[in-house]
Amino acid sequence: MTRQLIWSRRAVLRLAWAGVVAGSALTVRPLVQYLTSKEDRPRSPLVFYDKVPEENTDWQHVPSSRVWVKRDHQGIMALVATCTHLGCEVNYHQEKQEWLCPCHGSIYDAEGRPLSGPAPKALPRVAVERKADGSLIINTAKQVGLDVRL
Ligand code: FES
Repeated sequence: MTRQLIWSRRAVLRLAWAGVVAGSALTVRPLVQYLTSKEDRPRSPLVFYDKVPEENTDWQHVPSSRVWVKRDHQGIMALVATCTHLGCEVNYHQEKQEWLCPCHGSIYDAEGRPLSGPAPKALPRVAVERKADGSLIINTAKQVGLDVRL
């Protein structure tokens, strides 16, 4: 015994409407996520750091940023660990005293000068200021020379 399926015009329209509602629900969520995403919003170039490095210690990473700070006998300096080839984040290897780029193998010396690989120039040094409470403000939009210290 076969069962015959009878589609009324009303049933077809209800099914089509349900499809439209379901399709809309599936596209609204990604749209809302895209519109509320913080990834594309411009970030402030200022990085704040309240742990002033001791003199003659190695580079210290400033959390939630690509900024590293160091202090020598001349003062405090800051570097942005962004490869000058195509912008990958470089990693500091304390034992080797070198910055290594994982993307195409550029190697920089401890001061950020390129040693090998496709990187065309040194890692960017950026301006450092000290607030009244002693903490640091690093301006990643303001590049300075390798010899500049706070
Ligand atoms: S991005 Fe670093 S070597 Fe290419």
